[in-house]
Amino acid sequence: MSQSEDKVVWQSGFEIGLKEIDEQHHLLVDAINKANALLIKEYTLAHLQEVTQDLVKYALLHFETEEALMKTHHYDTKHPKEYAKHTHEHRQFKTKVDTIHQDLERGEAVEREEIINFLCQWLVEHTNKIDKRLGKFLESVA
Ligand SMILES: [Fe+2]
Repeated sequence: MSQSEDKVVWQSGFEIGLKEIDEQHHLLVDAINKANALLIKEYTLAHLQEVTQDLVKYALLHFETEEALMKTHHYDTKHPKEYAKHTHEHRQFKTKVDTIHQDLERGEAVEREEIINFLCQWLVEHTNKIDKRLGKFLESVA
């Protein structure tokens, strides 16, 4: 699959100005594109399970990194509403991917488009808005 056929094209909005987080966002975009390419090539239950399992593992690691940074810099006490909203979005993502995974295990049909579109939308929305605000805060305390 060529770069132009990637489902998610890297955009500057995915960068929050912190190397560690930006690198993880890059990896997340790559993981979604890889998942999409794999599922286009062969749409099997085994692949779907592999993709959702890998993504959830990777996403959780990334959320842990962000949330550890929030705690270190007291984002939770300085901006409690924003902190609650941010971590809530992380939980929602996990819940949704877990649900997809459980549906697959029960043998329910899940469309490739449904999974990929959810992942893309979530990533674009979350990184461009809520992660960006976290980036600004971290920049201000650096
Ligand atoms: Fe985040």
